[in-house]
Amino acid sequence: MTKQKILFDTDPGVDDALALLYLHRHPNIDLLGITTVFGNAPISVTTRNARFLAEAWGIKAPVHAGAAVPLNWSGAPHPYPVHVHGANGLGNYPIAQEPREEMDTAARFIVDSIRQNPGQVRLLAVGGLTNLARALETDPAIADLVQDVVVMGGAFEIPGNVSPVAEANIYADPHAADRVFAASWKVTAVPLNLTGRTVITREALATISADANPEMQMVAALSQGYIDFYLQWGEAGMLVHDCSAAVFLTDPDLFTTRPGSVVVIKEGPAAGLTLQRLGAARYSPSEWDRRRTQLVCVGGDAAGILARIYDVCATPRN
Ligand code: BDR
Ligand code: CA
Repeated sequence: MTKQKILFDTDPGVDDALALLYLHRHPNIDLLGITTVFGNAPISVTTRNARFLAEAWGIKAPVHAGAAVPLNWSGAPHPYPVHVHGANGLGNYPIAQEPREEMDTAARFIVDSIRQNPGQVRLLAVGGLTNLARALETDPAIADLVQDVVVMGGAFEIPGNVSPVAEANIYADPHAADRVFAASWKVTAVPLNLTGRTVITREALATISADANPEMQMVAALSQGYIDFYLQWGEAGMLVHDCSAAVFLTDPDLFTTRPGSVVVIKEGPAAGLTLQRLGAARYSPSEWDRRRTQLVCVGGDAAGILARIYDVCATPRN
């Protein structure tokens, strides 16, 4: 079987780490590159973390640093979620390398990779969408050259996780998110509606990682504070946001999708709110008509998604 060519845009990030492990270990995935974005920590830290994980796990794909701030940004960035992902973005797992300033090459790398593999690249974005929006700005033609875009993000008709209406990745850069959903490429969103149900308990994580490969044992170790955060908020364990979106690449049948164009509210108290056009009612011509129909995973087989993650990530090293 031909391997899927994946570009992974990420802000590691505890749940990002599990997603990276899934992409690395999945036999049908060819990871072309990793691009980083601010979000769970500053860009120097998320990039350092991506390099750390890639080196620790023997991932050959290049790492390219990306955006440090959202599009149209004039103030200070939102506070980084140290209470969720730890002060170092990876659950305070010990990391010897210090973060450092790097050139922002992510958008250019995304464009070049898509141009070199027309019709073949799938973009998986599990952080704010600034790099994707900037890649589109650099070369709008990539929208018709990429295979598709899968985004972990959004909260459709349910409460958000960083504001009453917004999910963290969309809230990180609502202007970029709106551009990504408005473009002519095919986008599938894997929002909180589903990832709020893909939960791994501390006990299950201990069980699956006990005899697993060292990579999975590292993920289990760095996830402990993340689990504490979710337990404190009444969840049964850690919410598997980013890796659920990774599973969509390989096992779309486990997901229930809903078609309709998507708009993101960009400013004000509702910034980051994701709205999808539902039904085929006739309205006066508007911006909604000009947008491509995108897919939103409003549901899916949460147990099946977790089973795939266990199969791929937690098998013993052979
Ligand atoms: C998303 O926000 C980040 O904290 C996680 O890594 C995930 O991508 C969940 O809302
Ligand atoms: Ca993330």
